[in-house]
Amino acid sequence: MNSVVAYSLILLTCAPSCIYSEERLLVNMTLVRNASVHGAYCLDGSLPAYHLHRGFGAGARNWLLQFEGGGWCNDIESCLERAKTRRGSTRYMNKMEVFSGILSNNPSLNPDIYNWNRVKIRYCDGASFAGNAKFDNGTSLLYFRGQRIWQAIILDLLPKGLGRARKALLSGCSAGGLASFLHCDNFTSYLPKNASVKCLSDAGFFLDIRDTSLNHTIRSFYEALISLQGIEQNLDKNCTSSRYFPKQCFFPQYALMYIRTPFFILNSAYDVYQFHHILVPPTADLHGHWNPCKLNAAACNTNQINILQGFRKDMLAALSLFYRYSRRGGMFINSCFAHCQSESQDTWFGVDSPRVHNKTIAEAVGDWYFGRRVTKEIDCAFPCDSTCHNLIGG
Ligand SMILES: *[C@@H]1O[C@H](CO)[C@@H](O)[C@H](O)[C@H]1NC(C)=O
Ligand SMILES: *[C@@H]1O[C@H](CO)[C@@H](O)[C@H](O)[C@H]1NC(C)=O
Ligand SMILES: *[C@@H]1O[C@H](CO)[C@@H](O)[C@H](O)[C@H]1NC(C)=O
Ligand SMILES: *[C@@H]1O[C@H](CO)[C@@H](O)[C@H](O)[C@H]1NC(C)=O
Ligand SMILES: *[C@@H]1O[C@H](CO)[C@@H](O)[C@H](O)[C@H]1NC(C)=O
Ligand SMILES: *[C@@H]1O[C@H](CO)[C@@H](O)[C@H](O)[C@H]1NC(C)=O
Ligand SMILES: *[C@@H]1O[C@H](CO)[C@@H](O)[C@H](O)[C@H]1NC(C)=O
Ligand SMILES: *[C@@H]1O[C@H](CO)[C@@H](O)[C@H](O)[C@H]1NC(C)=O
Repeated sequence: MNSVVAYSLILLTCAPSCIYSEERLLVNMTLVRNASVHGAYCLDGSLPAYHLHRGFGAGARNWLLQFEGGGWCNDIESCLERAKTRRGSTRYMNKMEVFSGILSNNPSLNPDIYNWNRVKIRYCDGASFAGNAKFDNGTSLLYFRGQRIWQAIILDLLPKGLGRARKALLSGCSAGGLASFLHCDNFTSYLPKNASVKCLSDAGFFLDIRDTSLNHTIRSFYEALISLQGIEQNLDKNCTSSRYFPKQCFFPQYALMYIRTPFFILNSAYDVYQFHHILVPPTADLHGHWNPCKLNAAACNTNQINILQGFRKDMLAALSLFYRYSRRGGMFINSCFAHCQSESQDTWFGVDSPRVHNKTIAEAVGDWYFGRRVTKEIDCAFPCDSTCHNLIGG
C-alpha cells in the first residue's frame, strides 16, 4: 500500500469548556495514475486523487468512501479561477489529509467505522463528480470530468480490495453529500451482490426553493452548472424520463425516490450554507438587512425567524415520504446552525457533541447501518436544542 500515515500531537478544542489532547491521523495522498486512460482530470488537467487508510481486524473487508465537498463553479470565469486553487487542482492541495470524525481510526472517536478501510475522495471538478465535458477555445482549457473521476477512482480501488468488500458506505459532505445521492446506485453496481452497501449524505440535501426575493436562485445556478459541465446525461434516467424538467433530478428531493440503495440523510434544518446562499443569497438582500441574523441567530428578528422556520418546514416536507415510507432509510435532521457534521470530531462523536433524543450522529448512523434499530430522528424546532455546535452565534 502506498498511503503513508503520520501522527502528530495537537490540541483539539471542542467547546469553550472542553479542551483535550488527541492524536491526529494524517493520511498521504494517492494520485490516480491511470486516470488519463479514462480522460479523468481535475479542472486544470491535473490527475485526480484520494487518501486511503487501510482497515484492520474485523473491519479489514469493509469500506467507507467519503466525497470531499467545496461548492461548485457554473461558468467559465469561475471555473478558470477555481482551476488555480485547491478546489480545482490536485497540484494545490495539501498532500497529507486529517482523518477525523467518520474517518477516524480510533474506536473511542468513531465507534462503528474506525477499523474499516477509509477513503477520502478529493474534489477538483467543481460539479459534484457529475460532469462530462471540456472547454477549449484555443487559449483556455478546462476539464469538466467529474463523472470520469468517480469512475477512475472506483476502478483504481476495486483491485485494492473494494471489489471484495463485505460492507460498504458511500458518504460525502456538502457538494460531496450531493455526489453521494448522484452516485449511490452506481456504487452498488460495482460491489459484490452479497455485500451490504449503503449511502449517506451529510449537508447535501439542497432544496429547490425560492429565495427571500422569490427568485429561483439555486435552480438557476444548478441549471447553468448542468449545462456547462455536461451533467444531464449522468443523472438518473428513471428520474429524468419522468420529469418535465429533467435538470431537476440534480436536486436530491426529486432523485431520492429512484435510489434503490439504503440511504441515510444527515442535515441541519437550518443548514448555514443553504441559509446564506440559497434562502437569503446576497442578491436577495441588497441592503444587508439579514447580515446581523446571518452572523448570529440571536440577532434575528421575528420575521426572519419565521422565514427560517419556513425553510425547516420545506425541508421536512421534502423528506416526508422518505420519513414515512422508506423502510431501509435513516435520517438525522437536527436544528443547529451547522453545515457538515460527520467529518469533524466535535460534531460526529464526543461527550458534548450534538444529539437528538440523546443520540449522537455517530450512534444514529451506526444504529441505522447495522440495523440495530430504526433511526429517523427529527429535532424540535430552533431554539430548543442546547447540544448544537453552531457555526454562527446564537
Ligand atoms: C507521500 O507519498 C508520496 C508518493 O508515494 C511520497 O513520495 C511521499 O514521501 C509521501 N509523503 C509522506 C510524508 O509520507
Ligand atoms: C492501469 O491501466 C493498465 C492498462 O489499462 C492496466 O493494465 C493496469 O492494471 C492499470 N493499473 C491500475 C493500478 O489500475
Ligand atoms: C477563451 O475564453 C477565455 C475565457 O472566457 C477568454 O478570456 C479568451 O479571450 C477566449 N479566447 C478566445 C480565442 O476566444
Ligand atoms: C459473498 O460471497 C463470496 C463468494 O461466495 C464470499 O467469499 C463472501 O464471504 C460473501 N460475502 C458476504 C458478506 O457474505
Ligand atoms: C456507472 O457509471 C459509469 C460511468 O461513470 C457507467 O459506465 C456505468 O455503466 C454505470 N453503471 C451502472 C450500473 O449504471
Ligand atoms: C429504472 O427502474 C427500473 C425498475 O425499477 C430498474 O430496473 C432500472 O435499473 C432503473 N434504471 C436506472 C437507470 O436506475
Ligand atoms: C432574480 O434573478 C434574476 C436573474 O438572475 C436577476 O436578474 C434579478 O435581479 C433577481 N431579482 C432579485 C429581486 O433578486
Ligand atoms: C443520554 O445518553 C448517555 C450515554 O450516551 C447516558 O449516559 C445518559 O444517561 C442519557 N441521558 C438520558 C436523559 O437518557
